[in-house]
Amino acid sequence: MAGRIPEETVDEIRKSVDIADVIGEYVQLKRQGRNYFGLCPFHGENTPSFSVSADKQIFHCFGCGKGGNVYSFLMELEGFSFVQAVKKVADKTGISLPEDVDEEPSKPHDPEAQNVLDAHMWLTKLYHHLLRHSKEGRDALQYLHDRGFTDEMIEKHSLGFSPPSQDFVVTFLEKKGFHPQTMVKAGLLVVNDQGEYFDRFRSRIMFPLRNHLGKTVAFAGRAMGDQTPKYLNSPETNLFQKNRLLYNFDYARSEIRKTKTVVLFEGFADVISADQAGIHNSVGTMGTAVSQTQAQLLKRYADEVIVCYDGDKAGQQAAVKAGKLLKQTGCPVKIARLPEGMDPDDYIKKFGGDRFKKEVLETSDPYTSFIINYWKRNYNLQLEGDRIAYIEKVVQEVARLDRAIEREHYLKEIANEFEMALETLKEEVEEVRRKTSSAGPPQAGKPQRHTKPRTSVQSKLLPAFHNAERKLISIMLNNPVIAEKVQEELGGAFNISEHQVIVTHLYAYYEDGHESDISQFVERLDDPSIKELAVQLAMSPSGEEVTDQELDDYMNRIKAERTDRTDIKGLLEEQKLAEQQNDPVKAAQIAMEILKRKKEMKNTY
Ligand code: UTP
Ligand code: MN
Repeated sequence: MAGRIPEETVDEIRKSVDIADVIGEYVQLKRQGRNYFGLCPFHGENTPSFSVSADKQIFHCFGCGKGGNVYSFLMELEGFSFVQAVKKVADKTGISLPEDVDEEPSKPHDPEAQNVLDAHMWLTKLYHHLLRHSKEGRDALQYLHDRGFTDEMIEKHSLGFSPPSQDFVVTFLEKKGFHPQTMVKAGLLVVNDQGEYFDRFRSRIMFPLRNHLGKTVAFAGRAMGDQTPKYLNSPETNLFQKNRLLYNFDYARSEIRKTKTVVLFEGFADVISADQAGIHNSVGTMGTAVSQTQAQLLKRYADEVIVCYDGDKAGQQAAVKAGKLLKQTGCPVKIARLPEGMDPDDYIKKFGGDRFKKEVLETSDPYTSFIINYWKRNYNLQLEGDRIAYIEKVVQEVARLDRAIEREHYLKEIANEFEMALETLKEEVEEVRRKTSSAGPPQAGKPQRHTKPRTSVQSKLLPAFHNAERKLISIMLNNPVIAEKVQEELGGAFNISEHQVIVTHLYAYYEDGHESDISQFVERLDDPSIKELAVQLAMSPSGEEVTDQELDDYMNRIKAERTDRTDIKGLLEEQKLAEQQNDPVKAAQIAMEILKRKKEMKNTY
């Protein structure tokens, strides 16, 4: 069979080079015991947090979280395809590849995936047609016009309408020859216990969600009135993962490339409104937090991301979170400010696209200045104690900036505002920088003895059960015997879904008779962010030695969390039932109980 490189060959090639040699061609590496350190090529930094493990044959950056084996490194840095990366390494080793390897091996042809794509394509057309031309769709069209969406935009984004019928789509898809069970899996139909099929989307404005190639892979249906949920989304499938897809990326890509800037929104309506106003480099998440994958994608195309979220508290809080993550990938970030209570769509509709560009986008703040301001709301700056706490927080943040000129800029502002000596602030910042860099990996040219790579600060702040899961997995990745023990006792019962994915693959990996080999193991994980997590955990210094007592503690924590969660889930159901039975007193009592339980859970962290 032409095309694919046999797995054994891929492994053989990987094992016949030293990852440090390959990476050493791109990054200046300093040896430190069995590990190497250098400046991360994937994000800007002055102190080395990029490490390469010779034992494990993987790399990991403690700063930006990138990590993987030699192939992932080349794919990420050179933009190679998998085959290109294997070829590049093979060239160094003299191992020859089969003659007929395709340059771009297309994914194994998957008839079911094709089938699901076809169904989405037909439904996009059907919903659009119903919106434009049917009697049932008239109100929906009116609604969109009333909201100011032009026909051009309705056409461009193939907006549609799902009819108020139980089985219109069932019949339509059946006639086209689609298998209803497949359509249920694809999230287009639902099935009840009696095996009857129904339309999933009814009486909603339909937003087709297109992947980066412009193919519809899912739908979001907006209620026309106040029904809940406001948006009903397709469930996640192989083709559609909320945290990977960026709405409108297919159309926006060329403009992002051209302008080197991307504007990031929270909702579909905002993206379409902005697009209509001529801001074509607009993309959106689906109301979810930006993921690592999305951040990487944006960074690859843009030199600047403008985060433009709702003007309310939740929106600004989400913007800060998004900004932080984007910044960690090394991408300059700005955050736009909107009047309280307005979202970008409201603003554009009320004041027009020009004012939106001039007064919102062009005046957006660099991330650091935004958060320095944003934090003020948490302090009463009239009080001395608060003022000091606030300034300390700012100092911590400024210390993180790589460029001295930037640090100075913000310190000057603070010095002016609080009538302090600039020198004092500078000293504080330098102090913080000294401390963090000595806790971190060795400075280039400044050999240190006991340097352990810094574990992410974040792990200190995680709840205990979460840390227990991380520790356990990091041990399991290095030790098949312990993995087997955990498999017997816990199985897949981890609470964090990414962790479930990793352990599930890990059990299978060991069952296939493999020894612990993280570099080989990560090839089995499809999702790059999960891959990176696995590498991060494998590299974490939690040590390969662990006592039985510690193991039991970890497992018990994880189990306890699970029980708590199950209890709360049960209570939530009871609460819903009480509400349905019109028993507000009982519902309120249960709500109190839930709060109490949640609080107890927090206290055990
Ligand atoms: P918003 O509530 O801000 O909606 O949610 P919106 O985009 O402004 O929509 P309009 O203007 O009211 O029509 C932001 C995003 O969160 C997701 C959707 O992706 C939405 O665009 N969301 C929101 C859901 O997935 N489900 C919901 O029930 C609500
Ligand atoms: Mn809106």
